[in-house]
Amino acid sequence: MTGTSFDDHERERWAGRATAYEPTFARLCAYPARALLDAAGAGAGVRVLDVGTGTGTVAALAAGRGAAVVALDAEPSMLAAARRAVPEARLVGAALPHLPVGTGTVDAAVANFVLNHVGDPAAAVAGLRRTVRPGGRIAVTVWPSPHPPLQRLWGEVFAEVDGGELPRVAAERNFLRTEEGLTDLLVRAGLADVRCRTLTWTHRADPDEWWTGPASGLGMPGLLLQRQPPATREALRRRYLELSARYRDADGLLALPTAALLASGGVS
Ligand SMILES: C[S@@+](CC[C@H](N)C(=O)[O-])C[C@H]1O[C@@H](n2cnc3c(N)ncnc32)[C@H](O)[C@@H]1O
Repeated sequence: MTGTSFDDHERERWAGRATAYEPTFARLCAYPARALLDAAGAGAGVRVLDVGTGTGTVAALAAGRGAAVVALDAEPSMLAAARRAVPEARLVGAALPHLPVGTGTVDAAVANFVLNHVGDPAAAVAGLRRTVRPGGRIAVTVWPSPHPPLQRLWGEVFAEVDGGELPRVAAERNFLRTEEGLTDLLVRAGLADVRCRTLTWTHRADPDEWWTGPASGLGMPGLLLQRQPPATREALRRRYLELSARYRDADGLLALPTAALLASGGVS
């Protein structure tokens, strides 16, 4: 058991899926990495904690800047991939909000698209905050709502599907996925000088490869797909190819507009 039933669902969803994540959603999540590290002040000689490191994109970038990196993830297959990507980092298996890292022992803590995968976001921010020394910073990203076109595409593909009961963060623990909502989450955690902005970009992906994310069970589209019989899955794949055609470039790749909320705050 983890903290909430939503966290239990997340453990199950990510289990053994690093290989599927790396060529698909990891490439999407890589875009804000530089801005995230900048917002946390993560440069040379800085002790950086990368929570929910996944396949190690942010950790590798931080190490490349000369930071001393501790990278943590709840999923063993992710840690194995991160170990290959960033052999110089210290890799730790653990789940937010309980981080086996000393209080105030790092200068910066970052979590790239992780707060959208926890059942108690306020406790997760408090867990990050505890690890950072006074004067240090925390920086996080989450997907916004309303959804940008890339995320909306999945909604359109699965609109007619009966997915049964879906895992959700309890309403009393949830926060608005807007600049105001994320700012409020960080302010309520006692962080100072909180800043939040929206990053926008266009993600390019091969249409067949992009589909392998859900087809491998990744994310909510993956869960919805897994719950369907084979004939429905094939119909959904065809629907995806049809609906995504409007995003195809002349070179045949998808060019999917998307956005992320990036917020940071200081520990006093
Ligand atoms: C969307 S991926 C982001 C990975 C990475 N930060 C990146 O930029 O590619 C979310 C990651 O968070 C991890 N994760 C989910 N819940 C977690 C928790 N409670 N504590 C630590 N890691 C968690 C997952 O195993 C997964 O590797």
